[in-house]
Amino acid sequence: MKDFLSILDKRTGKSYDVPISDGTIRAMDLRQIKTDPEDFGLMTYDPAFTNTASCRSAITFIDGDRGILRYRGYPIEELAEKCDFLQVAYLLLFGELPAEDQYKEWKDKITLHTMIHENLKKFMEGFRHDAHPMGMFVSTVAALSTFYPEAREVKNRQSRKLQIMRLIGKVPTIAAYAYRHSLGLPYVYPDNSLGYAENFLNMLWKMTEPKYTPNPVLARALDILFILHADHEQNCSTNAMRSVGSSQADPYLSLSAAASALAGPLHGGANEEVLRMLDEIGSVNSIPAFIEKVKSGECKLMGFGHRVYKNYDPRARIIKKAAEDVFEVTGVNPKLEIAKELERIALNDEYFIKRKLYPNVDFYSGIIYQAMGFHPEMFTVLFAIPRTVGWLAQWQELIEDPEQKIARPRQIFTGHEIRHVEREQEASNVVVAAR
Ligand code: SDX
Repeated sequence: MKDFLSILDKRTGKSYDVPISDGTIRAMDLRQIKTDPEDFGLMTYDPAFTNTASCRSAITFIDGDRGILRYRGYPIEELAEKCDFLQVAYLLLFGELPAEDQYKEWKDKITLHTMIHENLKKFMEGFRHDAHPMGMFVSTVAALSTFYPEAREVKNRQSRKLQIMRLIGKVPTIAAYAYRHSLGLPYVYPDNSLGYAENFLNMLWKMTEPKYTPNPVLARALDILFILHADHEQNCSTNAMRSVGSSQADPYLSLSAAASALAGPLHGGANEEVLRMLDEIGSVNSIPAFIEKVKSGECKLMGFGHRVYKNYDPRARIIKKAAEDVFEVTGVNPKLEIAKELERIALNDEYFIKRKLYPNVDFYSGIIYQAMGFHPEMFTVLFAIPRTVGWLAQWQELIEDPEQKIARPRQIFTGHEIRHVEREQEASNVVVAAR
């Protein structure tokens, strides 16, 4: 009986053998542990799910202690070096890298879905000029649901695949339109002769020239950033995607919920906060004082720390290298010096060492985006574009998982026992209502 947990309940003297599989016990196996037949039985209590597996997944593997990240078994370093984003998107969604003919068909299909309905443009025009692009992104993705009612057929494999291609094709268009709206610039239509990242740059930055010519270094850097941000197993926004998707809401509404979770400053919103933090610090000389503020608990070192990585986030390492290629074209972002010195000081300070706080994916990404010409408000939208693929791969796995059903956690009730409305209270309410 080696793969069992023997539990002795000292309240009753009874013992229980609970099976162990895949390094877990099933929470439902604890419900048999009761003090009497009327007892509900034991539950687990795990606020923020710090030690709870919510699903079985074959998509992404992370070893936080060793700083390992793999998509479908491939190390992120190899994918970033040898593949492009649409190849990695295919890998995440279908489990294998595409053969040449599969890749060509996949690219052509995604390209055919880059346009959005003209009514969606009108919808986006309704936002204030200073509307945050993440608010526009979340709302417009949800609005897509109203254009594709067949997306509600989440159990239909063909419908799922069509919505997945629509979303991957359209999120760069929506993101670019949000950016152009914030600058009061006319929308730029997709150019289907360009690749995924190139076309995104086209829709962002084309002005009066007849055809936009993307800078290949910047396009490749963006492609690599998209690969690095594509998926990250059961993070906060993926949990939102799975939770909303478990009610069989359509993928547009579910993805809108996921993007909303990503917008939080502790999650995907951190890249925007890193730039604000570097601006607040202002110079290398001001770093020691800022570090003291962090250590006193007054603020967090944004872009540092991670629930899973207790080592250097492998994505941050790759981004730091990609930055050098970008700065060759754009010129070095002066904030890089502050960021590098901040990292050096933090990694040698007991406060951060003790808590195993290292730079995460958001620490250097914003510095690249800013050098490329993006405003900080766009940074999380740039995270949401590639993460759309991860959210959809996780959603698809959820829908196809026979073990999954609607997510509905339990609680520890801490409120009042039963109590009754006093007669005088009834009377006073009736008098007020009658006036
Ligand atoms: C992403 O989950 C994912 O996979 C996310 C992501 C993805 O790809 O989807 O990787 C993307 O969201 C990256 C994280 C981006 N967020 C930030 O950079 C914001 C700053 N980081 C922190 O808020 C924090 O590190 C979290 C939210 C990322 C993780 O928080 P945890 O796991 O809940 O850890 P915690 O808050 O319990 O911290 C443990 C200790 C605490 O100190 P003590 O109470 O023990 O004294 O570490 C401290 C925290 O105060 N701490 C920090 C810190 N992060 C944690 N102290 C200063 N600065 C920080 N950044």
